[in-house]
Amino acid sequence: MARIHLSKADITEVEERFVVDAMRSGWIAPLGPHVDAFEAEVSSRVGVAGALALSSGTAALHLALLDAGVGPGTVVPVSSLTFAATVNAIVYTGADPVLIDAQRSDGNVDVDLLLEAVDTLRAEGLAVPAVVPVDLFGRCVDYSRLVPGLQERGVLLVEDAAEALGASHAGKHAGSFGRSAALSFNGNKIMTTSGGGMLLSNDLKLLDRARYLSTQARQPVPWYEHTDIGFNYRLSNILAALGRGQLQRLDAMIARRREIRDLYAKALASFEDVRVRGRSDQDTDEHDNCWLTTIVVERQGTPADDIVRVLAAQDIEARHVWKPMHLQPVFAGNRAFVTGASDELFRTGVTLPSGAALGDDEIERVIDALSAQLEC
Ligand SMILES: Cc1ncc(COP(=O)(O)O)c(C=O)c1O
Repeated sequence: MARIHLSKADITEVEERFVVDAMRSGWIAPLGPHVDAFEAEVSSRVGVAGALALSSGTAALHLALLDAGVGPGTVVPVSSLTFAATVNAIVYTGADPVLIDAQRSDGNVDVDLLLEAVDTLRAEGLAVPAVVPVDLFGRCVDYSRLVPGLQERGVLLVEDAAEALGASHAGKHAGSFGRSAALSFNGNKIMTTSGGGMLLSNDLKLLDRARYLSTQARQPVPWYEHTDIGFNYRLSNILAALGRGQLQRLDAMIARRREIRDLYAKALASFEDVRVRGRSDQDTDEHDNCWLTTIVVERQGTPADDIVRVLAAQDIEARHVWKPMHLQPVFAGNRAFVTGASDELFRTGVTLPSGAALGDDEIERVIDALSAQLEC
């Protein structure tokens, strides 16, 4: 039987046409018209003034943080329940990340705890220029509460929307809430450029400066002249073409992921201790992008571990939710504001195969294996 992946890229002849066009046009090295068009299309979709296509979401976070004045001698409160890249980008700048626990309901950062951390750190005389909340598994943070709290305190918001393109909160799109935001087009995301990312902002000057830094900080003179340290962070024209094809199909891919989540929810409804995360969307103005269907199994022991292991033995890729950064050996020395919520989600939470290209027969196979394990 073929292996079932967690979130395999869904590529069709639409993407093929875009990539062939980029290759035949001769715009290979490295920028070109597909990059410009991709930036315009994504920024218009998200509802921000502009965008900068980059080689990764991590690069986008790095440039966003540099713009926000994050660097040596500053501290940055950040979601602890996330992928390491979020926190690594803060470390690249020379600042100290401060890890903030999640709320139990959906794993997104605990807004009250985040604001309390800002106040505590400032009361100690520390500089807190910005915070980095993560729209976890494609669901927006509660920005209706967070944004006013940050505005009162004069703290900048850098939104890690790497997983959340296509999600929205209170009528606004993920990636439009902060001074700047990062998207990822990594291979397993809601849409992909094979590898890539994007910096979003309403501030075009911010994007100009980031564009300059992302292309090795070259001064506009005929020879190579540098007055700043730059980076090689731009996305290529060929990959942008792939992204444009994916963007045309984004709504259809989100719709298929939603259908997949509904199939899981229906099949697991009889297990009283199993919660499918994000299922109350229909009744609210909160729309996640269903990137990865996540279940929480409220049982003693090691339910997440058991499920991941049993499914792996049947060639089905399920994963633990992110292991919180405050439990990672590499961040053991970092300050953290912890309630125990994300430790519990790590013990009980599993992400299930959710790729838009999965057939109903493959979802059926996952459900059979999962149900057998849950009945044990
Ligand atoms: C929450 C989060 N932040 C940042 C990243 C980094 O994005 P990239 O892999 O494109 O560098 C990812 C995904 O990989 C992510 O899931």
